[in-house]
Amino acid sequence: MPGPAVPADLPTLAELEARLAAVPGLDGPALEAETIAVLGRKSGALTAIMKRLPSLPVEERREFGASVNLLKAKFEEAFEARRTALGAGRETQDAQTDLTMPGRHRWVGGIHPTRRVIQDIVDIFRGLGFAVATGPEVEDEWYNFLALNFPPDHPAMDLHDTLYLADTGREAQDAGRDGLDETRPASRASRLLLRTHTSPVQLRTMLAGPPPYRVICPGICYRNDTFDASHLPAFTQMEGLAVDEGIGLVDLKATLSHFARQLLGADTVARFRPSYFPFTEPSAEMDVRCGVCRGAGCPVCKHTGWIEIMGCGMVHPNVLENAGVDSEKYTGWAFGMGPDRIALARYGIPDIRMLREGDVRVLGQFTGAA
Ligand code: DAH
Repeated sequence: MPGPAVPADLPTLAELEARLAAVPGLDGPALEAETIAVLGRKSGALTAIMKRLPSLPVEERREFGASVNLLKAKFEEAFEARRTALGAGRETQDAQTDLTMPGRHRWVGGIHPTRRVIQDIVDIFRGLGFAVATGPEVEDEWYNFLALNFPPDHPAMDLHDTLYLADTGREAQDAGRDGLDETRPASRASRLLLRTHTSPVQLRTMLAGPPPYRVICPGICYRNDTFDASHLPAFTQMEGLAVDEGIGLVDLKATLSHFARQLLGADTVARFRPSYFPFTEPSAEMDVRCGVCRGAGCPVCKHTGWIEIMGCGMVHPNVLENAGVDSEKYTGWAFGMGPDRIALARYGIPDIRMLREGDVRVLGQFTGAA
């Protein structure tokens, strides 16, 4: 074959013959690449060689042209044959695939029932102009109890209710080991503990800036409780605080009743019972009529027809003053509720431990639940 006529920057016909022999071994992508490299309209080697034919002496042109054409035909045939062979292979494989086999099960994650309740509560209060505030889970006695108007000998501060951190007595704090709040006067130093409620976030919010305040504070709280059907030693709570000029009990009742209807349905009936909390005066518990039995009595409402969903009340003037807020000028209301408990009532879950055991047979039932 007359090789020398091919310019040096292009493969010789002999080299192309060798590449032709390799075509039956090419896989799909290599086959495509080689087709373009040899026959491609713009930069294919044979195309380029053909383009240079007119510059050859007439006597060489004919014979060389015939060789190039022959080689081109062989390549076309080889590429086509290889393409067919690869396609046939795929068909054989497809024939082995049983399309009637059941698909492989895929896990679909879902939002935990408690988290769903928290998100819904946050959405409702956001719509009413409340912001979300958070605070530390390790608190001290001042924020958790004393500034909230608990007397120093209140039983809630007993070791059998509250989880204190070891070695965090006054001496430890005086030695500078309390990293919680450098601006807090030394006289307020007290033992460190795991917060027993989210109410200390009320103080932190008010100390952080001037009134008015409208916040909700979701978070985890800890108590020295056994893990049983109705208690979790670590549980979620949601605090609410509204402080402004001229806020009264009617605002509390109207806002919280509206909230209950938003969360649990337009036909929700709420009632307020007098109660006691050191940090509110007056104080109340808010119940809603059981959505499962509609008040007739069932295991979810312990046959009372009502489900207690939160504690609430008008913020005690001492709490406002402890946070540096003028209690002559400002008034407010607050509430605290337990999203875990609300999740039990909302979804009819009989045992609070089910919310923490991580059993997909339980939690999987709430995947995608509204
Ligand atoms: N902190 C209370 C508790 O853990 C709940 C509570 C009741 C919070 C009344 C409040 C409130 O803000 O006003 O039981």
